[in-house]
Amino acid sequence: MMPDPQRVLITGAGRGIGRAICEAFCEAGARVHATSRTKHELEELRQELGVSVTVADICDRQQVRALRQDVEAELGGLDVLVNNAGVWMERPFLEYTPEEWDQTIDTNLTAVFNVTQSLLPLLLESSDARIVNIASIDGQVGFAKLVAQCASKAGLIGFTKALAKELWDKSITVNAVCPAEVDKELSYAATPDRVAGPQKVLSRDVARAVLYLASPDGVCINGSCVDVHGIGFLAS
Ligand SMILES: NC(=O)c1ccc[n+]([C@@H]2O[C@H](COP(=O)([O-])OP(=O)(O)OC[C@H]3O[C@@H](n4cnc5c(N)ncnc54)[C@H](OP(=O)(O)O)[C@@H]3O)[C@@H](O)[C@H]2O)c1
Repeated sequence: MMPDPQRVLITGAGRGIGRAICEAFCEAGARVHATSRTKHELEELRQELGVSVTVADICDRQQVRALRQDVEAELGGLDVLVNNAGVWMERPFLEYTPEEWDQTIDTNLTAVFNVTQSLLPLLLESSDARIVNIASIDGQVGFAKLVAQCASKAGLIGFTKALAKELWDKSITVNAVCPAEVDKELSYAATPDRVAGPQKVLSRDVARAVLYLASPDGVCINGSCVDVHGIGFLAS
């Protein structure tokens, strides 16, 4: 008998890496619910991939409650949560405004709390659930002019490891994927012959790591950071 398709929620799915994650799950036969704030990007996704969508600002807890209701109505439950939405701001430390600091921490960290806490009861009803948080090399290494970014992503890595420990006896894994700089313009189709050697990371490389963590092969990986740094990045 064929297993039921995975039911997947992806935040920040309208463009960039989130869209690539959406495409990869759809190709793998999953039922996907996509969310972000930009309506026309979600509408495009709905038409092209047949996913269900909710326009929501995940920094707003009321909108996150509505998102959970949509997920229940559209998917009837949830097996995989991909916390991908994020912002990125490069600023000398003294030039950050308090609003920019708040926006970075709110989106990259507090919104992950909002979404995960709201959706966890649904995930715990699944017999095999996965949470994958898209963190960053920024959370592992300190970079100049990226203090808020590095703080938020380091926080997300801590969140991931602590939640994995807390849920250790439940049917769920919690992991992070940590990409280095991603070339979002280059497509897999344009680079068919990739082999080991100096490589840029493509959106699809991040999506494949997420898919692996959500697959049966990834079941024993828990509380981990999967680095998708490309080859050559750390040497440069
Ligand atoms: N690009 C890189 O080189 C790189 C490297 C390492 C890690 N990452 C991480 O990968 C993830 C995706 O990055 P990306 O480069 O693909 O970003 P992106 O192209 O800027 O897309 C970000 C997505 O997040 C959504 N989003 C932002 N704030 C939101 C909010 N308050 N509520 C709901 N949705 C929100 C955006 O949609 P709306 O604006 O329409 O809401 C968009 O769909 C991020 O977490 C990022 O930190 C990226």
